[in-house]
Amino acid sequence: MLSRVRTAALWGLEAFPVECEIDVGPGLPGFILVGLPDASAREARERVWPALRNAGFQVPDRRVTVNLAPAERRKEGSSMDLAVALGVLCATSQAPAARLDHAAAVGEVALDGGLRPVRGTLSLAEAAWRTGAQTLLCAAPAAPEAALVEGLAVHAVASLEEAVHWLRGADLPRQSPASPDDEGGSTFDLADVRGQAVARRALEIAAAGGHHALLVGPPGAGKSMLAQRMPGILPPLRPEEALVVTRLHSAAGLRLPGRGLMRARPFRAPHHSLSRPALIGGGSPPRPGEISLAHHGVLFLDELSEFARSSLDALRAPLETGSVWIARVSGVACFPASALLIGAMNPCRCGWLGHPKRGCKCTPTELQHYAARVSGPVLDRLDLQVEVPALTSGELLASEPGEPSARVRERVVAARSVQSARGTLNALLTNRELRELSRSIQPAGGWSSMPWTVAACRLARSIGRCVSRARSQIWRPKNE
Ligand SMILES: Nc1ncnc2c1ncn2[C@@H]1O[C@H](COP(=O)(O)OP(=O)(O)OP(=O)(O)O)[C@@H](O)[C@H]1O
Ligand SMILES: [Mg+2]
Ligand SMILES: [Zn+2]
Repeated sequence: MLSRVRTAALWGLEAFPVECEIDVGPGLPGFILVGLPDASAREARERVWPALRNAGFQVPDRRVTVNLAPAERRKEGSSMDLAVALGVLCATSQAPAARLDHAAAVGEVALDGGLRPVRGTLSLAEAAWRTGAQTLLCAAPAAPEAALVEGLAVHAVASLEEAVHWLRGADLPRQSPASPDDEGGSTFDLADVRGQAVARRALEIAAAGGHHALLVGPPGAGKSMLAQRMPGILPPLRPEEALVVTRLHSAAGLRLPGRGLMRARPFRAPHHSLSRPALIGGGSPPRPGEISLAHHGVLFLDELSEFARSSLDALRAPLETGSVWIARVSGVACFPASALLIGAMNPCRCGWLGHPKRGCKCTPTELQHYAARVSGPVLDRLDLQVEVPALTSGELLASEPGEPSARVRERVVAARSVQSARGTLNALLTNRELRELSRSIQPAGGWSSMPWTVAACRLARSIGRCVSRARSQIWRPKNE
């Protein structure tokens, strides 16, 4: 007997529809799985057979052939387990197949007949919706995420037994999408940062115009502290952005069970020892790297000078295009990678170059080597390069608490709305556009009469230029 069950398989960030055809026919008992399954998909039999037995169903004593269509496309993962199990039950007349005509099933089967959630549930549910399925059966922890697909009726099933109950006509409640993870706020507030007016201003301009930034300063100056507060001043994620971010984090297996839409902007701060594929993305099948996990959020590279040069150089293309393409024999995967890059580093190896009280102990050669650790083209992409001076304890105590993130965010939102009405983010303006834009704005009334965004953009460039000039002077070897 033949049965068909709709399911889906993940490839990179996107999933594609898979039709699972199961034939139980005469011949010696056996199981053949075709349709280019990878190792984890091929192990379906080792999971499904014990699961059927332990859930009290009969394991077929005939020849079972499973075809994962389209047969020429490679499939990875255990998302098709549930479809294989239900298909076998229908093909051996242990369950009626009628309800499967308009349904799809995704999930990994546990040996006791239970169901486990899989990576990329949101993408898988979207692919199931594209097959025309109106209902989706999936493991309970993944159901709130799957229910984000509008129109799709999601039923959470805890086990094979429960899925078969549903096939036999039992009613299951329709899962409603979980409430968003949070309201998109950040736990870190700029009000905690005292002083540092220039760095705060630079971060605000970076947030408003989408500029990448570099913070240079001695140990303990507050660079990490400032960078952590960046997501809190960026505008809240729009619903369509939140969906992409959720899809990415789910495909990378970073979602906690039972969570809904991700509303907070991601903040990724990978350690400098990470490999190039971990930063950019890679592997087979392709997985998103840190730059993609920071999409629509902030990628903070602390101790920038300690990152392998090849890793940093590989960031150049994604920073330019906002996406990462990973080509494999089995296909090409594209991950979005439009993140705000914030780098932080000390001014020299010992960290105290330019400090008013503590002397730098680096030799001229060490200074030169240090300055050359981040390549020019990477530095070029960091529009804002600001010095973060170390404040003395007296200065820290004397300065007032800073402006809270919420107030800064209001200005950033206002600046972004002007830019979106114009169509281009400040950081993405070409030189010609920038020239034309600034010419079209009459500075007769001075800087104060200028739209905030253009003023910010100009300021960004001039701060960038001043700081690079200052840095080139600071970084000149002592004995020159
Ligand atoms: N401007 C500031 N206002 C309030 N606290 C500050 C400020 N600057 C530094 N601090 C305090 O100093 C601590 C160290 O700061 P932080 O870790 O951000 O320094 P850093 O510049 O990243 O240093 P490193 O180069 O060693 O990584 C912070 O956790 C904070 O408590
Ligand atoms: Mg730090
Ligand atoms: Zn030094």
